[in-house]
Amino acid sequence: MSRIFITGSADGLGQLTATALIAAGHKVVLHARNEARANEALRKNPSAETVLIADLSKKNETIALAEAANRLGTFDAVIHNAGIYRTTAAELLHVNTLAPYILTALMHPPQRLIYLSSGMHTGGSMRPDSFNLSHPSVSYSDTKLHVVILAFAIARKWPAVFANAVNPGWVPTKMGGKGAPDDLNKGYETQVWLATSDEPSAKVSGGYFHHKRLQRHNAEADDINVQESFLESCAGITGVSLPIS
Ligand SMILES: NC(=O)c1ccc[n+]([C@@H]2O[C@H](COP(=O)([O-])OP(=O)(O)OC[C@H]3O[C@@H](n4cnc5c(N)ncnc54)[C@H](OP(=O)(O)O)[C@@H]3O)[C@@H](O)[C@H]2O)c1
Repeated sequence: MSRIFITGSADGLGQLTATALIAAGHKVVLHARNEARANEALRKNPSAETVLIADLSKKNETIALAEAANRLGTFDAVIHNAGIYRTTAAELLHVNTLAPYILTALMHPPQRLIYLSSGMHTGGSMRPDSFNLSHPSVSYSDTKLHVVILAFAIARKWPAVFANAVNPGWVPTKMGGKGAPDDLNKGYETQVWLATSDEPSAKVSGGYFHHKRLQRHNAEADDINVQESFLESCAGITGVSLPIS
């Protein structure tokens, strides 16, 4: 049995991942943006261990979330699932990029880290002006490239941890919309597998997965200079440094 923390688990893929993990006998800690959403998360997954609350668009709440998670001990796996698509550049940067960075840096390192990216990351790029907090210039695709860069940087810097990124496909959640063409079940099965499976192909690091298979990714994420510049930018604007491991 593993113990897993999932961000953004009141709805969509995060909620479905939690349901699948609990059904398989694992312990799950949920996360939601506020009390009402936390109640909803627990209503959908009443067997979860507990739910933690933080609005990931706010740095101080994200830091407090890492502290609250650490008070619960060390997780076997953390799934950085929370994400947002149609919003301002500032919110995209905070929720999709900086929150996973802050939580990764401040939470006790788990054995496995899973970051929700997107096929759209291939159209993203790593631009220094993305990290100007007063006028961030960043798209959804850029932020989904950021999490692949983060996963690959962690895989390189923390050899004891399996860190991978996942493209869940275009699936019918609140974000994906009703007409999304891909299989909703396949949209969370890879996260469940990476978080808990003992298959050798799940116990790897530095991969970008789609439906349990490695998929071609944006090569910018492989560049060590890009990874270092990304980590420096995140540390610079959050004031939170990544531990050496
Ligand atoms: N669906 C797709 O087709 C698709 C495709 C590629 C990648 N993805 C990625 O998969 C992940 C899950 O997406 P989904 O389709 O399940 O989307 P979703 O149904 O919209 O769920 C997103 C989750 O993130 C939470 N969240 C958003 N902003 C937050 C904030 N400021 N603070 C705390 N929580 C916040 C949401 O909370 P609320 O429910 O309270 O809003 C929700 O629980 C995302 O990272 C997304 O980028 C999805």
